[in-house]
Amino acid sequence: MQNLVKAALEVREKAYAPYSRFLVGVAIRGASGRIYVGANVENSSFPEGWCAETSAIGAMIAAGERQIAEVCVAGDSPAPLTPCGGCRQRLAEFGAAATPVHSVGPQGLRRSFTLGELLPAAFSLESSDD
Ligand code: THU
Repeated sequence: MQNLVKAALEVREKAYAPYSRFLVGVAIRGASGRIYVGANVENSSFPEGWCAETSAIGAMIAAGERQIAEVCVAGDSPAPLTPCGGCRQRLAEFGAAATPVHSVGPQGLRRSFTLGELLPAAFSLESSDD
């Protein structure tokens, strides 16, 4: 997990967040073991920016990978940083309820969640058991 944490903290330094000044870095480990990173990218037209999770998912998809095994979100917030609602849904598209989502700050790991804890009863077009 340490390399995932390091990757998230490193890419956070590259975030483009001149409006909020809230830098976020995300590292995703795919089922292959490869790590994909992304940072938030803001825009002077505020709704046009996007989250670090979205950037990292884009990198994973561009590399041809479709399965998220583990996620690490890095930011410096009062409470441990968790993905926004939209990004929880984006992560759920490629992860599972048991997929770990680690929240780290500049001092390291703060708390770990599962995707199922963050997004219970996720919307899916896939058929379920019931
Ligand atoms: N942000 C992320 O990139 N990921 C999160 O998990 C939470 C929020 C970004 C969006 C925006 O650029 C800034 O943080 C402030 O909300």
